[in-house]
Amino acid sequence: MSASPLKIGLAGFGNVGAGVYKNIEKNRHLLRERTGRDLIVTRIAVKDLEKARPIELPADIVTTDLDALTSDKEIDLIVELIGGIDRAFELVKTSLENGKAVVTGNKALLAERGQELFAIAEKHGKPIYYEAAVAGGIPIIKTVQESLIGNHIQSVAGIINGTCNYILTRMSEAGLDYKEALGEAQALGYAEADPTLDVNGWDAAHKAIILASLSYGCWVPCDQIHVEGIENVNATDIGFAEKLGYVIKLLGIIQLHEETGSIEVRVQPSLVAKDHILASVKGVFNAILVQGDIVGETLFYGSGAGQDPTSSSVIADIADASYALETSGGSGFVTHGLYGKPMPIEETVSKYYLRVEAEDRPGVLARIATVLGSHDIGILSVIQPEDHDEEYAPIVLMLHFAPFGKVREAINQINAMDCIRDEPIFFRVEDLG
Ligand code: HSE
Repeated sequence: MSASPLKIGLAGFGNVGAGVYKNIEKNRHLLRERTGRDLIVTRIAVKDLEKARPIELPADIVTTDLDALTSDKEIDLIVELIGGIDRAFELVKTSLENGKAVVTGNKALLAERGQELFAIAEKHGKPIYYEAAVAGGIPIIKTVQESLIGNHIQSVAGIINGTCNYILTRMSEAGLDYKEALGEAQALGYAEADPTLDVNGWDAAHKAIILASLSYGCWVPCDQIHVEGIENVNATDIGFAEKLGYVIKLLGIIQLHEETGSIEVRVQPSLVAKDHILASVKGVFNAILVQGDIVGETLFYGSGAGQDPTSSSVIADIADASYALETSGGSGFVTHGLYGKPMPIEETVSKYYLRVEAEDRPGVLARIATVLGSHDIGILSVIQPEDHDEEYAPIVLMLHFAPFGKVREAINQINAMDCIRDEPIFFRVEDLG
């Protein structure tokens, strides 16, 4: 065993931070055997010393001062679990400048400012690890970075927000409404402290940006991807999707278009065929399908949120950092400049589910079909249930492959027709192979 222990400064003792501390203690012996070093948390920074916590803080090593961690010459590695962007950025930057490796689970930080941070890491010759930033306990970062290193990644499609998947599962299986299902997810500790980023799709989008950047060796800017959340998914559409043989999932889609060298990156609630493997991913679980040109299709499944699974990824990064600090590792991100252009959402193509509430009189369906036809959008099937109210009927149309921009234009035109009540609802239907 190597003589020197790895000294860790832990910034943040929330759900995941406390889990990291607890689980390093729990598996201390195993970790020592496997890494050849003792992993010791020598300092912990918290915001509030008085806060009641389910896991007791070791009082002798606690501080409220982040500088006490970054300026401590004994500390080899900083684990950033404070969340947010500005303070976390400063913490990671100063840690790297002071010669420390960094482990972070902060997806928003990396998606927004990863490019700057990896440049700082490169300059100072210290790595950043971020397995916990994407899909909690699933080792997807290491897989793309190492296990699939010989592949051109052709596509990544995944359920990468456990809270949304939990909510959609409970809405479709237990008939809960959106608010009830969100309340359950919060009570179980799956949602972020502020669940807005979960339900508006941005938590998944930050993860998709990290995966896209890693897969294609270039940073995908946050303002060049299309993001929709699950706030507008309702029982009516879950019911129609079910009748048509689909479930609704929030999907992150990342796809290379070799003809143009552009990368499609988007997060949208989408219909997935019930017999597709992603349809069987329920509750807080995440799953990610990765298609490589050599390996073919691979699937990674596991807990995408929660204290123990996420801390498992943080601890794996700590162990990796421990090796890298003894040798000399890279920054944690490799740019290769083969690809680089995010694809505009208007050009992305899929099938669609469209529901309109239309006046029940002759000619209405024909008018809708004419608008779709004039945008070159084919209709795959139509349902209009007979048991509707007297004046308005729901019409559900499954649309053929078409560019998102054209579909949006056609739907705006349909929405403006005098025979339409409420804004039409539409979701993508993902043909995942
Ligand atoms: N709140 C996230 C989720 C986990 O529900 O998947 C951390 O990103």
